Amino acid sequence: MAPSQKTVLVIGGTGAQGQAVVKALTADAKYAVHVLTRTATSDAAKELASIPGVTIVQGDAFDEATLFKAFSAVDFAYVNTNGFSIGQSKETYWGIRMYEIAAGTGLKHYLWSGLAYASKLGAYDPKYKCGHLDAKGRVSEFLSNQPTSPMKWSVLSSCLYLDMFSSLLLPKPDPADPEVNVFSLPLGAGHPPLIHLPDLGRYARWMFDTPERSSGLNLQIGTENISWEHVAKTFTEVTGKKAVYKDVTLDEYFASGVFPAPDAKLGYSADQNDSTLMTYRENFSGFWNTWKDNLVKTDYALLDGILPDRVKSLGEWMRLTGYNGGHKAILKDTTDNAGSSH
Ligand SMILES: NC(=O)c1ccc[n+]([C@@H]2O[C@H](COP(=O)([O-])OP(=O)(O)OC[C@H]3O[C@@H](n4cnc5c(N)ncnc54)[C@H](OP(=O)(O)O)[C@@H]3O)[C@@H](O)[C@H]2O)c1
Repeated sequence: MAPSQKTVLVIGGTGAQGQAVVKALTADAKYAVHVLTRTATSDAAKELASIPGVTIVQGDAFDEATLFKAFSAVDFAYVNTNGFSIGQSKETYWGIRMYEIAAGTGLKHYLWSGLAYASKLGAYDPKYKCGHLDAKGRVSEFLSNQPTSPMKWSVLSSCLYLDMFSSLLLPKPDPADPEVNVFSLPLGAGHPPLIHLPDLGRYARWMFDTPERSSGLNLQIGTENISWEHVAKTFTEVTGKKAVYKDVTLDEYFASGVFPAPDAKLGYSADQNDSTLMTYRENFSGFWNTWKDNLVKTDYALLDGILPDRVKSLGEWMRLTGYNGGHKAILKDTTDNAGSSH
């Protein structure tokens, strides 16, 4: 290891998001990466282990002693907790506690993978309450009140991955005309940002590369803000297949089978008696209401300045990835079959 090389701990590094971050950090030899995982023998961990500069560290990310040791061994950290698995209480607690532990080890730069604080953006109207958004948003809020010295902090606020068009956002054939692909969502005229995962990885890297700009910054990223009318139109332009957008009610959405058990609690590894867990229906009602009402703002001029060669549109992404409306498992949780329904 060259003396100038910095080491980055990536929590959640085996996941869809974390893998993009690990790959961006190891695109050259500037950084060495430690990936904390519960299982060093998973396919994702083995694939990452084959990348030069990556060390797999086996352990539980929600354990004090493990975290202390893991943060002590590195210069920087990228932290993506898994709210779908642990639920909003644990994610809020551990998001804050991880920062405290990291600061106590002398870590130099703490990068939190955030999401919009939906409840706050929606003036705490219960219709926007969404456990997996709020938990990450509360932690971002906590971080914004911390000093930037001696440990720098940054927040990378992300959004739906464009890859989710192959799972949660997949079109379905119209029963009346199977040639027509129906993109249905309870989104009205909402136009949420979605992100190309390799660019998410490159924004994370930019934050470590450019602390003079990123320290104390909460950066909302996105590839493009996309209405679902635009999704259907672009899909037809790129693939030649017919497509429509169907704006549905929340009840119609949950009745469509998108989640096999909409009234089950969302939190695969959480104690199901935890009264703060939300059901899929509750959680994703708040989620779609947040995007429908366009509560999240994204500054694309700023993003263009940071990554001038970023993927800039849905159409560009569809062409680049060969998207054709087919299904693919995107999330590690899904392939692990841990209970995720997308
Ligand atoms: N889906 C989206 O469009 C999207 C967009 C933005 C943000 N997010 C957020 O990203 C987080 C999930 O990360 P991901 O999208 O990369 O999902 P993923 O592909 O399913 O990966 C899950 C990650 O969580 C790790 N993990 C650690 N402890 C865990 C536990 N007790 N139970 C389950 N997993 C555990 C897994 O590590 P090991 O299995 O190796 O231990 C793995 O790295 C969620 O908080 C979600 O809100 C998702």
